[in-house]
Amino acid sequence: HVIGIDIGTSAVKVLLVDWTGKVKAESTEPYPLYQPHSGYSEQNPGDWVEKTIIALRKVLKIANIDPRSVVGLSFSGQMHGLVLLTETNEVVRPAILWNDTRTTEQCREIEARIGKEKLLAITKNEALEGFTLPKLLWVKKHEPHLYKQAHTFLLPKDYVRLRFTGHVAMEYSDAAGTLLLDIQKKAWSEKLCQELAIEIECPPLVESTECVGTLLPEIAEKTGLSTSVKVFAGGADNACGAIGAGILAEGQTMCSIGTSGVVLAFEQTGEKDFAGKVHYFNHAKPNSYYIMGVTLAAGYSFDWFKRTFFPEVPFSEIVQHAAKSPIGANGLLFTPYIVGERTPYADADIRASFIGIDAAHTTSDFARAVLEGITFSLNESVEIIKASGKRVDTVVSIGGGAKSIEWLQMQADIFATPIEKLKQEQGPSMGAAMIAAYGCGWFSSLEQCARAFKEVERVVEPNPAAVERYRELFALYRDIYPQTKEIT
Ligand code: XUL
Repeated sequence: HVIGIDIGTSAVKVLLVDWTGKVKAESTEPYPLYQPHSGYSEQNPGDWVEKTIIALRKVLKIANIDPRSVVGLSFSGQMHGLVLLTETNEVVRPAILWNDTRTTEQCREIEARIGKEKLLAITKNEALEGFTLPKLLWVKKHEPHLYKQAHTFLLPKDYVRLRFTGHVAMEYSDAAGTLLLDIQKKAWSEKLCQELAIEIECPPLVESTECVGTLLPEIAEKTGLSTSVKVFAGGADNACGAIGAGILAEGQTMCSIGTSGVVLAFEQTGEKDFAGKVHYFNHAKPNSYYIMGVTLAAGYSFDWFKRTFFPEVPFSEIVQHAAKSPIGANGLLFTPYIVGERTPYADADIRASFIGIDAAHTTSDFARAVLEGITFSLNESVEIIKASGKRVDTVVSIGGGAKSIEWLQMQADIFATPIEKLKQEQGPSMGAAMIAAYGCGWFSSLEQCARAFKEVERVVEPNPAAVERYRELFALYRDIYPQTKEIT
């Protein structure tokens, strides 16, 4: 058996898989998210470790297998979160997460000191609040006493792996999201570190599929696993989601709806220029890349809607309720900018809106407008990918958006492409398990592993009349951003 561990934003998910790709057991353990001020988003790295250990114990119990049959494990994790460590690897302060938007000033500072063009040439990405480098600069400016204690930094899943193995390492797919990596050269940019006076050490870089070590005795004891379990580096959650969805060659595209929402397309090389319109990162498949657009609050907008208005009703029932309203929600439009937006606006200050509220609108209309608004925002990324000349023939849908036929149909109609739903859709934790399966030598390539593990359950075709209707609505949706920008 192998295990995939996803350090998500709301919870850790642990998946136990056999050599045929069959899921034997899964367990999810939530941990708190701290938002001490508007725009702040932090977590306690110790919580990730503690909850991962609990989830591992549960998974072994549920699967009821001999723990010695587990030979490898790997990680997936929320990207960009800054974990600052002292020389003895103690955590300096709570982690500042990807959806924390306090760093607008630092982004402007990076652009001013480096120059937008040069930054793009090195990192292939723009300075965005969510990325790690602006967070480092924020700590340096606002918490100099803490910054002084820091010796190096890691990203969330790298920190848990450090606690599991004792080895400090970062792999390329996550390092790409720091804004300090030259993604083409696969090396830390000395130029950026020097010009921005980042004195702390950048961690050693490894491939996602590399074995970083084995389990420390104390972790083996706490989880019930053996000390001989091989621990592979793993990848960023979006890269691992892509591996699980089989996005391993040119022409393949994925839509993933978790707390954030992502539309991601495979890229063979790191030499193209997307002018920062989409993120351009190293893939977890060694020596390949992907581009992606991000909706900051995708599942999070739906979650907010449920928590605020229907706390007792399960998500699936809210989707059913939304489906009673027709396409266009009887003239009600929603923009999902409840915590700002990334693609296509890179605007941390914009906020969401419902437009066109009528006395006749029902809760079904509101629920539908929320789902449509989230999907319209994701379509902005689909449009950028199409406009870059890439073909988007089908989109593999994973995460919350793949859980109901109604939302899958909405994606097919709004993206105007067939949508593939996987039979055993487990999100990024499956990609992490696949990295471990490949790393253990069960397969000769990640592609071969994907052929064994990935099974398409159904293909949802777009309905031409709905595609047409949504095209008109999307044009209206796009008008909302410039109209509301000044008043929010
Ligand atoms: C990607 C991003 C999010 C997180 C969510 O750039 O910030 O998708 O990875 O976990």
